[in-house]
Amino acid sequence: VSGLVTLGELLGQITAQREGRLRPGAPATLSVCGAEATVAIGVRRLGVPAAYVGRSGEDTFGRMGVEVLRGEGIDVSGMTLDPAAPTGLLLRTRRTADRDVVEYLRGGSAGSRLCPEDVDPALIAGADLLHVTGITPALSDTAAAAVDRACDLARQSGVPISFDVNYRARLWSGRSARAALLPLAVRADIVFGGRSELVLLLDAAPDTPPDRLLTELAGEGPREVVVTLGAEGAASLCDGVVATVAAHRVTPVDVVGAGDAFVAGYLAARLDGRNQQARLGLASTLGAFAVGTRGDWEGLPDRDELPLIEHHDEVVR
Ligand SMILES: Nc1ncnc2c1ncn2[C@@H]1O[C@H](COP(=O)(O)OP(=O)(O)O)[C@@H](O)[C@H]1O
Ligand SMILES: [Mg+2]
Repeated sequence: VSGLVTLGELLGQITAQREGRLRPGAPATLSVCGAEATVAIGVRRLGVPAAYVGRSGEDTFGRMGVEVLRGEGIDVSGMTLDPAAPTGLLLRTRRTADRDVVEYLRGGSAGSRLCPEDVDPALIAGADLLHVTGITPALSDTAAAAVDRACDLARQSGVPISFDVNYRARLWSGRSARAALLPLAVRADIVFGGRSELVLLLDAAPDTPPDRLLTELAGEGPREVVVTLGAEGAASLCDGVVATVAAHRVTPVDVVGAGDAFVAGYLAARLDGRNQQARLGLASTLGAFAVGTRGDWEGLPDRDELPLIEHHDEVVR
């Protein structure tokens, strides 16, 4: 399959349905989640072929993950169900109406057993783009090696590499993250990060302006760098040219997954051969769909639904 290839950990997700402390018998919703899976689903719904490489437990959440991706039309030939370890879990409780708490139950998970042998060279060589994030290298040494292997294979075949910093403070310290992720950013063709993530990566002052962060990061190697700024939109630096996009006005119901949805829109437009401004435009539209719907990926749009956000002043009849 050509199109986008990505690798990472899919987690089972348990989301409490009511705010407050979680008690036995509390209603909750089950799903699966993962930053790279959100990107694969996002591009796929926009018509771009996608393949997902990963390792889940041979258990209910592991099978649910494979079924979700397969149901979206994603190539799951690179997914292994590992009988030796369980699928990791993410538990989301709503402590108060606007304070969500995320707990990871993923230590020793099947996903962290991802290894270089899981990466099929033919799958990478045949892709139009490889997307990786800074979450996977945090999981284990073998998972970090799998990301390296995928990037090596992409480089050898001239396949562009996209890298989303996605720093997760629950998984490692800023210092270890920078040491592991800066080399990945330097090798990538496209880098995405929030403002604080780029500050971390560059060891820059926290008040460094976004356009300065873009210039500094581009100076390290990547031709295309994008900073996401939440409700303030995003900016990119592409072959020395800066472009910006505003965020759409939406009522945020769930901001988790916005960055991954944004990346999906950006990469889908890029794979369609669209220009710098159009990439940011589709990215911002997908980010808006993500924050305006519950779940990281469930609310992402098909191509024919895009006008719903893009023409937001009109009622779409
Ligand atoms: N409140 C919001 N309203 C509209 N769009 C948003 C909002 N928050 C985020 N977005 C969109 O999603 C993109 C990524 O969000 P951001 O919070 O910067 O990333 P991350 O989820 O990685 O922290 C933003 O650049 C913007 O396009
Ligand atoms: Mg992010």
